Parts: sequence; C-alpha cells; structure tokens
Amino acid sequence: MPVELLNEGAYRTYLEPVEIPGQESIHIARVEFGDGEVKRAYVKFYSGQGRGLVNEVTGHLLAESLGMRVPRKVAILFVPKKDVLSPPSWMKANTEDTYPAWCCEDMASPSIKFFVGLGNAGSSTSDGYAHIREELVKSKQTPAILAFDDWVANIDRNVGNILRLGMGDYALIDHGQISGGRHWSCPTLQDVNRKFPNILKQLINEKAETLPFQSQVVICWQKHAQALQRIQNEL
Ligand SMILES: Nc1ncnc2c1ncn2[C@@H]1O[C@H](COP(=O)(O)OP(=O)(O)O)[C@@H](O)[C@H]1O
Ligand SMILES: [Mg+2]
Repeated sequence: MPVELLNEGAYRTYLEPVEIPGQESIHIARVEFGDGEVKRAYVKFYSGQGRGLVNEVTGHLLAESLGMRVPRKVAILFVPKKDVLSPPSWMKANTEDTYPAWCCEDMASPSIKFFVGLGNAGSSTSDGYAHIREELVKSKQTPAILAFDDWVANIDRNVGNILRLGMGDYALIDHGQISGGRHWSCPTLQDVNRKFPNILKQLINEKAETLPFQSQVVICWQKHAQALQRIQNEL
C-alpha cells in the first residue's frame, strides 16, 4: 500500500491519548483513509527539528517492500491544530492551521512491551524478558527484523516498537529513529566507522550469536538491495 497524503478533512475526531507513549506526541483518532474507510489510527507528531517523519515513511516502505508485517494503511495526515488536545509547545509556535502527522491504522495488538515480566512466575533467574526472548529466538521473523534494523541503522527497536499479532508473529512500527536517529545528515550517513546499537540483538543476547541464527540473518541481508530497488520511485 502507498503512503497516502491526507488533508485536514480526513481527521474525523480525537479519540484518546496513548497510555505509554515514547518520546513523541502521539494520540489515537478516527481517520478517513483515501478509500473512504474510517478507522482508528495512531497519529504522531514530530517537531520540525529533525527528520522523524521522513524516517517513518522510509522505514515503513522498506519494511513493507521486504514483505515484513507493517500497518497496511499509513499516511501523512495534515491535522487541524485546533483539534489537537494539549499541543506541544513547538506546535503552538508554528503559524500554520494544520500540522503534518505520521498516521497508521490501529493494528489492535499489544506491543511485546506488554509481555515483559509475564510468564516468569516463580523463576528467580529470569530477568522479566526471558519469556519474550525465548519466543523471539524461535520466531522465523526475528532474523529478518534484526537484519532490517542493522541495514537501516534503526537505533530504537525497543519492545514498544514490535507489535505481537500472535505467537512469534510480529508487526513493525515506529521507524522515527532509523538512519541513526532523527538528526542525520549526509556526512553522518557516510561515516563508515560509526556504530549503531541494534536493540533487538542486545535483547536476544548470546542466542543471536549462534551459527544457525547468524546464517538466517545473512540470508535476510541478501534481500535488502532488491527491496530498495522496488520502491525507489515511491521513495
Ligand atoms: N499502528 C499501531 N497499532 C497498534 N498499536 C500501536 C500502533 N502504533 C503505535 N501503537 C502503540 O503506541 C505506542 C507508541 O507508539 P510509537 O509509534 O512507538 O510512538 P513513540 O515514538 O512515542 O515511541 C506503541 O508502543 C504501541 O503500543
Ligand atoms: Mg516507539
């Protein structure tokens, strides 16, 4: 699905805040997508400082091109500022009537953050992530996610940014911090010595170092160049 460009008429109504937001200003709203369907959607604002919005678009399109699960309907939505409850201060300083947001349909699934600490009852050795780690290691999708994050230099694949659709079945959201973060420039991207943390790899820990796991990651790497070629025009 393409990234739609929706004007202020598409923003139907504010619904609710997001209970555990990350760094960004995010809420849930009813949004009319281009085909006329009105859906619950997450609406996220980035301040004018940095490239969060362009990172979202780029990360989403690349992940989708690789066949990874992502929200199907996504858009850049121009939200009427008068409808934004408690707008951040940088938004008030902006003089336009609308503000562009990253908007994606509600996948109606919790992030794996929700499962931290579950399934470890009675175990004194586990760290709260043991249950999730075990499931991630078994999932066929994990090497692809890990390889993807390495490729796009996503420094923010925390447990809030992987939705759990079912056991071992995940969808990817929040690509605001690819390319090493929101403040990249050509020189920062060309710095070949720069290292980017891969948070999912750190979570999986030594189990990501085994030969079978690493060979899966390498196979996934081989699909990247073509995935980029396929969406070059749209990007
Ligand atoms: N499309 C979506 N479907 C379901 N839940 C979502 C979706 N987008 C965001 N969320 C929920 O909202 C939380 C914050 O969204 P996210 O895009 O990660 O914003 P932030 O940049 O603030 O981290 C996520 O951890 C997830 O629980
Ligand atoms: Mg997030």
